[in-house]
Amino acid sequence: MAGRIPEQFIADLLARVDIVELVEGYMPLRKAGKDFQGLCPFHGEKTPSFTVSRDKQFFHCFGCGAHGSAIGFLMKHRNLEFVEAVEELAGVAGMEVPREARSQRSSGSRDLFTILEHARAFYEAQLRQSSEKQLAVDYLKKRGLSGEIAKAFRLGFAPSGWRNLLDTLNAAGISEEQAERAGLAIKRERGGYYDRFRERVMFPIHDRRGRVIGFGGRVIENGEPKYLNSPETEVFHKGRELYGLHEALAANRKLGSLLVVEGYMDVVALHQFGLPNVVATLGTAVTREHLDLLFRQVPEVVFCFDGDAAGKRAAWRALENALPLVEGNRAVRFAFLPEGHDPDSAVREFGAEGFLKAARQFGLADYLLDTLKLEVDLTTGDGRARLIERAKPYLTQIPSQSHRAGAVRTLADLSKFDEDLIRRELGLNPDRGFTPRRAPVLNRFTSRSLEEQALAMLLQMPSLAAQLDEELVGFCRQELRDGLTLLEVWTSIQARPPTSTAALLERWRDDPLEEPLAALATLDLGIPDSAFESQFAGALARLRSKAEEQRFARIKSIPFEQWTDEQRDIVRNYKRAR
Ligand code: UTP
Ligand code: MN
Repeated sequence: MAGRIPEQFIADLLARVDIVELVEGYMPLRKAGKDFQGLCPFHGEKTPSFTVSRDKQFFHCFGCGAHGSAIGFLMKHRNLEFVEAVEELAGVAGMEVPREARSQRSSGSRDLFTILEHARAFYEAQLRQSSEKQLAVDYLKKRGLSGEIAKAFRLGFAPSGWRNLLDTLNAAGISEEQAERAGLAIKRERGGYYDRFRERVMFPIHDRRGRVIGFGGRVIENGEPKYLNSPETEVFHKGRELYGLHEALAANRKLGSLLVVEGYMDVVALHQFGLPNVVATLGTAVTREHLDLLFRQVPEVVFCFDGDAAGKRAAWRALENALPLVEGNRAVRFAFLPEGHDPDSAVREFGAEGFLKAARQFGLADYLLDTLKLEVDLTTGDGRARLIERAKPYLTQIPSQSHRAGAVRTLADLSKFDEDLIRRELGLNPDRGFTPRRAPVLNRFTSRSLEEQALAMLLQMPSLAAQLDEELVGFCRQELRDGLTLLEVWTSIQARPPTSTAALLERWRDDPLEEPLAALATLDLGIPDSAFESQFAGALARLRSKAEEQRFARIKSIPFEQWTDEQRDIVRNYKRAR
C-alpha cells in the first residue's frame, strides 16, 4: 500500500477542479441565483433541493442533508473510498497523486496482500489438482454449488498435511514468519510452523477493492470447528469487513440496498440464484463499523436472520447499533426466516422470488416495539405506560424526524395513549419534536449561539479570518462556550488560507467536528455576500462584549483581596465603560 496523500495536495486538487463542472458530468444543473440546482441524486425528489455552490466548491441537499466537496461528491455518487475518489479526481485534473514516504507498517501490509494472494492461488489450484480434490468437489456438489459460482468466489481447497501451503510459499521466497503474520501458519511451541488450514473448503475474503485479506475454511462434512477463520492480522479486522461486498459491487456498481446474512454459504447461494446484493458478517455481531460501511454503499440495509433465538439476539444487536444511524433517506429492515431455515436452505427451497416472501419482515420501529412489547402486559394501563418508558431510550437515539414520527405513531397504537402525550412523556416538546442526539441542521440562523453564528460566517467566507485579533483569540480560549472550535478553525485558516469552504472542511474529514462544521457551513444565513464583512464585524463585537461580561463575572467571584493588578484594571475599566 502506498503512503499517505499529503494534505497540501488535497488543497491543490480542490483548487484545480470546479465542483459545478464535475457534478454536471453526472446530472443536469441549472443556475439559481449565484448557485446551481438540480434533483438530488442521493434521495428521490421531484423538486430540486440539491444545491452546488461555485464559491464554496461545496454541494448540499436541503432534502436529505447530503453535502461535501468535489471529493465527497465522487465518494457518494460512485461509492468510492477517499483515496479512490482523490485518484479519480486527480486524473480529471491531470495531476499525479504524490505519496508521503511509506511507513514500515504500510509496506508490511503490501507484503501481506501479496502473500495472501499467493495462498488464494494455491488453494484455488488445489481444488483442480490435489490428489484429494474429489472430497472437496463432491462436497460442494452436494451443497448444490455450480462450478461457475465456485469460480466466481474463487473457492479453493486446503488438502490434508502440515506444510502444503508453507512449502509453496517458501518456494516463492516467503518466510514462515511472514506466513504467520498473514494468518496462514501457526507457530509450534517447540519451534517450527504448520499450515493453519487443512482439509477444508476455502472461502477467500476480499476487501472492498478486491484484495484478499483473509480466509474462512469449512470443514468437509462434520468436524470442529465448522468454520475456521483467519485470525485478526494487520489487514484483516472481522468487525470491519463484510464477506461478499466486493462481489456485490462487481455485479452491480450502483446498489440500492444490501441484504446482510450470517454465513459464507448464504452469500454464495444467494448469488447463485441471481441475488448478488448480499453480504455476510464474519462470524461476529453486526458492529457500528459494519453499519457505517453499509450505509456508505447503500441507503437501505435489510438484515436477514434465522428465526431462532440466536438469530433474534443478533438482530437486536444490529438494531441497537443501527438506531443512531437512521437518517432521513436511510432505511433498515429485518427479515426472519422460518425456523430451521437459513438463507442458503431457503433460497434453494423457495427460489429467488419466494425466499424473502417466506420471511417475516419488519421495519425498524415495528421490530423495536414488537420486541419491547413482549416484556410488558399491554392489557393493563400500567403495562402500557411501561412500554413508553422502555421505548424512550431507543426512540430518542433516532436522528431522523420522519422515522421518529412513525415510531411514535406505532407506540400510540400499541399503548392507546395520545401521540402528544407520548411525546411529552418521552421528554419531547410536542410542537418542536425530539431533540436529536446529534446537532441538527437548523435552518434558522438566529437560533444559533453567537459563537456558532460567527463560526458559520467564517466557514462560509474564510477570508473573514483577518478580522480576529489577539484579544478575541484570548477570549475564545478562556471565556466563550464554543470558543475553542472557533479558535481551531481560525488557526487553521491563518496557517494555510484555503481556496474555498470545501477545501477548508476537508481538513476535518473523519474528525468528530466534520459533521457539526459542515452543518454550519451549509446553514442559510440569509445575508448577501456584500454584507458578510459588516455582519461578521457585528458578531465579533457582540462576542467581545459577551466575553467581557463573563470575564467580569468570573473575577467578581474571586475574593477581592486575591485579585491581581491586571484583574483590578479589568474590573475598573469594565465599570467605567458601562
Ligand atoms: P452457520 O453455522 O450458520 O454456518 O454459521 P452456515 O453458513 O449456515 O454454514 P453451513 O451452511 O453449515 O456450511 C454462520 C457463520 O458463522 C461463522 C461463519 O462465518 C459462518 O458462515 N462461523 C460459524 C464461524 O466462524 N465458525 C464456526 O464454527 C461456525
Ligand atoms: Mn447453512
